[in-house]
Amino acid sequence: MTIVLRDPVFRDFRDFIYEKCGIFIPDTKKYLLENRLVKRIEDKCLSGFEDYLKYLRYSTNGDELSRLYDAITTNETYFFREPQQLDVFIDQIAPKVLSQKKAKDIRIWSAACSTGEEAYTLIMMLAEKIAGVRTEILGSDISDEVLASARRGVYNSYSIRNVPEPYMKKYFRDNGQMNFELDAAVKRPVTFSNINLIDEKKIRTIGSFDVIFCRNVLIYFDDKAKQKVVSFLYNSLKPGGYLFVGSSESLHSVTRAFRPVIINKVVVYQRG
Ligand SMILES: C[S@@+](CC[C@H](N)C(=O)[O-])C[C@H]1O[C@@H](n2cnc3c(N)ncnc32)[C@H](O)[C@@H]1O
Repeated sequence: MTIVLRDPVFRDFRDFIYEKCGIFIPDTKKYLLENRLVKRIEDKCLSGFEDYLKYLRYSTNGDELSRLYDAITTNETYFFREPQQLDVFIDQIAPKVLSQKKAKDIRIWSAACSTGEEAYTLIMMLAEKIAGVRTEILGSDISDEVLASARRGVYNSYSIRNVPEPYMKKYFRDNGQMNFELDAAVKRPVTFSNINLIDEKKIRTIGSFDVIFCRNVLIYFDDKAKQKVVSFLYNSLKPGGYLFVGSSESLHSVTRAFRPVIINKVVVYQRG
């Protein structure tokens, strides 16, 4: 039997996903939803998308919702992504944060971290460039699958392709199966947690951060969801704290709450 996603059901599905996690699926991406969910419908022995939507709406535990998030999210990431931003962070922002606090500890949130490369990149850079710094990073994502992979800390050659040689030698071990295992010392300061960025209640429980990286996820939200998420990020920053969004993303039409700081052509958003 061929499982087809009819337009009215697609719209109901889209609304459901939007309401649950802020991801907006345009008409042009209907095929993606169809391709990614057929397997779930078959595995659950359901008759089609209408049935699957009912199942998601009325099942009492969140297991299938979690599988849905695994299926619909785009998890592209890699070590040392957008290096200009990382340089600004390590050369300018981190030293400023530490000197303002007059302390040697920094608390960072890698929001929508996917498989963890961003969080681990920051740990390695801080260890290399700022002597004696104590770092705590929270990595979060909505997909349990990517979080499990982040906790394992084993990466393929695609993921490590931009890692500078000295870092490669010092922090990774080739396990002989085309995979590279991260050193335990890099993994230790990072904890991973499932956090939906539109879940204000949960976000209120995680405390406040000196710096937040929330890169390459706002593009999946519409303006209303972006505004909501960005206001939660704002509230999660300590006064004077900094937010990095992806280099192709901007808060220009989203909020005026932050002070944009431009350093070496990189825009960083500072909480007042
Ligand atoms: C393209 S990856 C970006 C990873 C990393 N931040 C980077 O820039 O390399 C986007 C991630 O956002 C996550 N995501 C999407 N919607 C989310 C939501 N509502 N709450 C939390 N994470 C979400 C996805 O699961 C995915 O892993």
